[in-house]
Amino acid sequence: YQCSKTAPSRGNTRARGTSAMTLNPTPADKFTFGLWTVGWQARDPFGDATRDALDPVRTVNELAARGAYGVTFHDDDLIPFGSDENARRGHIDRFKKALNETGMKVPMATTNLFAHPVFKDGAFTSNDRDIRRYALRKAMRNIELAVELGAETYVCWGGREGAESDAAKDAYVAHERMREAFNVLSQYVLDNGYNIKFAIEPKPNEPRGDIFLPTIGHALAFINSLDHPELVGLNPEVGHEQMAGLNFVHGIAQALWHKKLFHIDLNGQHGPKFDQDLVFGHGDLKSAFFLVDLLERYEYSGPKHFDYKPARTESDKGVWESATANMRTYLMLKERVSAFRSDPRVIAAMAESNIPGLAESTFAPGETWRDLAKDSFDVEAAGKRGYHYEALDQLALEHLMGAK
Ligand code: GCO
Ligand code: MN
Ligand code: MN
Repeated sequence: YQCSKTAPSRGNTRARGTSAMTLNPTPADKFTFGLWTVGWQARDPFGDATRDALDPVRTVNELAARGAYGVTFHDDDLIPFGSDENARRGHIDRFKKALNETGMKVPMATTNLFAHPVFKDGAFTSNDRDIRRYALRKAMRNIELAVELGAETYVCWGGREGAESDAAKDAYVAHERMREAFNVLSQYVLDNGYNIKFAIEPKPNEPRGDIFLPTIGHALAFINSLDHPELVGLNPEVGHEQMAGLNFVHGIAQALWHKKLFHIDLNGQHGPKFDQDLVFGHGDLKSAFFLVDLLERYEYSGPKHFDYKPARTESDKGVWESATANMRTYLMLKERVSAFRSDPRVIAAMAESNIPGLAESTFAPGETWRDLAKDSFDVEAAGKRGYHYEALDQLALEHLMGAK
């Protein structure tokens, strides 16, 4: 990402004051895409596919040409389920060749533990012990490939780990089995000396009626129960928290504060309804603005992974247009938040709103609860104070909308 005071103004460059930032994505921006995102054939519960399957090699080439940093995959995205060892190696080799030719990275991989009917009642929390053991073998096999390709993050999205009826599943023991699965996978990674960490991806529902570890908060608490909590963090997705009516920016702030933001799935969602997986920013744009503000201010340095689905209406051309749209939206928001943060009017408004006051610790060094008795405080005057947040919020909106 270039931000240069002398950059010449180009068609796709927005000038702001004396600085200009290009909106052309480059690998330095660390934008990544799952093979299953641009590769989604747009099959939904009510309709057939509207697009042809994408060859992973073509996906690598198309994304590289558009400035992406890397790709991610589920085992079955790269190697069709049921492939024999020879065919498996063939798929891996031609994928690796494309990576080498383009310089594209694979920073993350994950397991498909949801598509095959064997997982219809879950994988790590299936009531069937043989299925739980099979799911762990499938995950371990793909972790080995992830390591071979240089990935350092292994995402675990438990799409089928849940139930439609509370009669069908003992939710208490399901957490015990989930814990066992993460302990086994952690031990597998430690015993092999792999440099890889797990990132749990919470989701409240869909495809199951209710999914275990439904939100960032649930997953954070669960991690504390594990044998190796240091090996497990989060891969939160914008739309998944918003499906539950939650504030994604707050969730990410807490994940960052716990040092558990190992990875992130960026996309868009219009509130509590089915998982839309829209282009980043095409849902709650204002939340996306404050999300980029947060990620940039707290220097999240992992991949910015777009987990979206190009709309069912799009043909091949629209797929690649939407891929670029994700990246440009991030870069535009990055520019807008930087302009917002450096605007003297905003700095003054923040001071008037006492935003910096929260950074001051409530107790001075050496003070205890006993010192509170010494305070004199005018409760009535403090209660009458206005905070001027409306003015500050409007300044954010004006920056977001590019008002001069
Ligand atoms: C969803 C999920 C999935 C997972 C992916 C990783 O949209 O419901 O985000 O896309 O991220 O399958 O396992
Ligand atoms: Mn999703
Ligand atoms: Mn996701």
